[in-house]
Parts: sequence; structure tokens; C-alpha cells
Amino acid sequence: MKSTILYTSIILALGTHALPAANIRSVDPPLRGSEDLLGYSPDNKLSEHSTEEVKYTLLPAQKEDPKIGSYLDFEHADNPQPIRGSLGASDPGPRNYNYDRINSDKLAPPGTDEGQTINAQWPMGLSRNRYGKDSSGWARQENTVVMPDATKMAGVDMRLEAGAYRELHWHVAAEWSLVLNGSCRIQAVNENGETFVDDVTEGDVWFFPPGVPHSIQALDAGVEFLLVFDDGDFSEDNTFLASSVFNHQPLSVLSKNFDLPLADFSTIPQEELYIFPGTPAPKDISAQNVTTEAGLLPKSQSYSYHFSAQPAHLVSGGSVKIIDPATFPVASNFAAAIVTVQPGGMREIHWHPSSDEWTFFIEGSARATLFTAPSTATTFDYRAGDVGYFPQSNSHYIENTGDGDLVFLEVLQADRFSDVALGQWIGSTPRQIVKDTLALADETLDKLKTEKQYVVAGNRTIS
Ligand SMILES: *[C@@H]1O[C@H](CO)[C@@H](O)[C@H](O)[C@H]1NC(C)=O
Ligand SMILES: *[C@@H]1O[C@H](CO)[C@@H](O)[C@H](O)[C@H]1NC(C)=O
Ligand SMILES: *[C@@H]1O[C@H](CO)[C@@H](O)[C@H](O)[C@H]1NC(C)=O
Repeated sequence: MKSTILYTSIILALGTHALPAANIRSVDPPLRGSEDLLGYSPDNKLSEHSTEEVKYTLLPAQKEDPKIGSYLDFEHADNPQPIRGSLGASDPGPRNYNYDRINSDKLAPPGTDEGQTINAQWPMGLSRNRYGKDSSGWARQENTVVMPDATKMAGVDMRLEAGAYRELHWHVAAEWSLVLNGSCRIQAVNENGETFVDDVTEGDVWFFPPGVPHSIQALDAGVEFLLVFDDGDFSEDNTFLASSVFNHQPLSVLSKNFDLPLADFSTIPQEELYIFPGTPAPKDISAQNVTTEAGLLPKSQSYSYHFSAQPAHLVSGGSVKIIDPATFPVASNFAAAIVTVQPGGMREIHWHPSSDEWTFFIEGSARATLFTAPSTATTFDYRAGDVGYFPQSNSHYIENTGDGDLVFLEVLQADRFSDVALGQWIGSTPRQIVKDTLALADETLDKLKTEKQYVVAGNRTIS
């Protein structure tokens, strides 16, 4: 206690910044405080600040019934607050305005949110990039380390500069990929020795089965692509690389295996290459068409699908493109859709009866409410570059919250793309049952639709 008083009086006399370093040392308070600070004391001092002085303006939708739950655009709001109708209160801080502005449904959740669901969001921007060698590219990943409940699928966002390679490798999981930007050459040799090579571009899809070794090389425009694996624990750091497999065999064994002298293996790089610069891929792909007695991979089993050339199916409020084993058979456990939603529109409320959904936001901004039985619901706000995850049979919608188109990818572990739509279910259920259950009026029931909508149009009910 004595030293505290001494310290305080010196500070009052000199001001902290005026204290020479040597003096600070001589009166430096100990790491722990006095036991006199425990509990009640007549000397306790209260802060002179009032937390009621926070200045803010509510958006119009923040004054609505919280159950209406309109999207709150806090991006340009003056001092956004966790308030909806009669719920919540101002936030005097500490806080990070950057997060609050882009996660308005977290700061001020709709009144229909309740309890704690799984975390259904991971922004790739929060994943650390792993650099390739010599400015050749990078990769960042989402897996169960960062989304512990996303157990069925993991994702990687990878960039290769022109001519750069993702080293020859294989892995235990199956790999499904969507090219996000640019073009690359992919090649593989399967267990029968059948060969495959193809060039893929923005919007195309490839698939490599577990254990099938393959490589990826960026063409002249460079490339960025998304990889989805059928195992939430997948890590890019644990793939079987060509350089590593050679470096972990006794040289005598390599010599025996290839029937070549030991010295022939002395030039193999001693460190893994992973992502590294290469000589440009030959312009003419036929130069890399290795034909052997095993033959080419049959077209019906091709590892690529030129999804970019598939026109989108138009629906009110946007469009949908589906790719699943019906047209891309080799990817026997991957069913996916690319959905475009116009401003104000929404991917309708639905759930996937046979699989979890792994989602990647490609363009625009969105929000989704994950509803998990019996009564938990969380609304998440997403931006391009974010991963979403919706467990099997858990309902969700995806609403466009921006001024431009929203584009996202849904990936399922299923042999067919399927969903159950809330609207179609209720619209196709006997009226008496729906009326008894939901107490909807006849004129409302008259307007229910029996067709699946996928995407519905709407106005921007955004404040
Ligand atoms: C691909 O990258 C280029 C360069 O940044 C950009 O102009 C273009 O819009 C990108 N394409 C897509 C589909 O994002
Ligand atoms: C590879 O060669 C075979 C015939 O030898 C041909 O059918 C196939 O189209 C070629 N593929 C490429 C990518 O050039
Ligand atoms: C959108 O707004 C227009 C004009 O205000 C209105 O006529 C229309 O019914 C609205 N549509 C929806 C889906 O709310």
C-alpha cells in the first residue's frame, strides 16, 4: 500500500511522460495489487463516465418489430448499435467497428435468432496464406481446425502465377475443384495407367479420385481455383508430394525400383516444391498427350467437366446450374450448384436431406439463417471469399444483401443434387393439415406454390 501511494504522488507531481526511465524503475508498482483492493472499501472510486452518453442514429429497420428482421446495412451507418425494436442496448465499447459493420446480423440479430448453432462461417481472409516458392503463388485453407463442425468437407483457395505448378501429388481425400479465375492445365495417371490431360478455364470443374496422382500448371493468364475435399480434416500440408516420396526412399531402393544407377537420382530436389515456378506449358496440349499401352482415360470417366460452357437455368430472381454424377460421373460423391441471385432475391428456404452443404461465396454479399432443431437459429453475413457450412437437413436460405448479383457455390456429398424446399413442402401438403398446424388463412393458402423455386425474386428490404 505504501509504495502505491508513493508512486501515485510522484505521478501527480511529474506527469507520467516526464518521469525519467531510472525513476520509473525505482517506483515501478509490483505486478500484483494490494489485497486491500478486495471487496468493499469506503475509498472505492466509481468511473465518472456515463455509458448513457453513446451517440447514435438507428436505421429505420432497427425500429421495426425485431421478428421482421430486415437486413441492416451498417456499412455506412453512424455508430451501429445492437438494437432492434425493444431488444438490445447501445454498445459503449470496446468493439471493432470493422467487424460490426459487415456482420450486422451478429451485432443486431433478427428477433427470430435463438441459442447457439454451429459456426457456419469462415472467411478465407482469416486463413493464413502459405507462400509458394519464388513468387509462384499461395494457398489458404478452411478445415476443421477453424470450423470444427464442418466435418464432411474442407476447402482450399489456391493461386498459381503464369507457368507455376501445384507439384505432382496425391491425397487420401477426393478433390473437386472450380476454377475461379484464369486457366490451367491439369493432368493425371490413374491406377490402370490410363492418362489424362486437359486445359480448364474460369467456371470449369475438375475431380481427382483419392490416391490418383495429378498436377496443375497455370497457363499464361495464371489461375486461381477452389478445391473442395470430401473430408473436413483435410490439410493442404499433408499431401503426398512427388519430391517427398522420392526423398523418403533409400536411394538403393529407388535404384532397384527404376533399374537405374544410384547416381541418376542425385539431382532430385532435397526439399518439397509444393507451389513453384515452371517452364511454360506447351501451347499445344497434344504435346503433353502421353499415350501408352494402357490408353487414355475414357471420356465417360473424364476428370474435367467444362461447366463454364453449360448455360444457367433461369429462375425468377436469378439462375442455377447443377453439376452432379448425372453428367460428371467420375465425381461420384460430389453434387454442386452455382447459384446467381439478383439484388433483392433469395435462394429459397430449403435443406439437403442427404448431405451437409459446403458453400463458397464467389461474388457479392449475402446472409443466411441456419436453423437447427429443436430451436436454435443463427443468422450469418457473408461476403465474396467466405466459406459457409449447413449441416444435413438443417434449413437455411441465402439472401442477396448487396446492390449487385450474388454468386455462390453449393457443394454436397451426394450422388444427386437435391433439396427439400419449404415452400414446395407446405404448398403440396393437404390444406386441412397446414391450416390446423400453421393457422394460415384460406386466401394465403390459395397463393402457395407447389413448384420448387430455387431462387425467389424480391425487393431489397434493406435498411
Ligand atoms: C479475374 O481477375 C481479373 C484480374 O484481377 C479481374 O479483372 C477479373 O474480374 C477476375 N474474374 C473474376 C471472375 O473474378
Ligand atoms: C491424345 O491422343 C489421342 C489419340 O492418340 C486423341 O484421341 C486425343 O484426343 C488426344 N488428346 C489430346 C488432349 O490431345
Ligand atoms: C416490390 O415493390 C413493388 C413496388 O413497390 C411492389 O409492387 C412489389 O409487389 C414488390 N415485390 C415484392 C416481392 O415484394
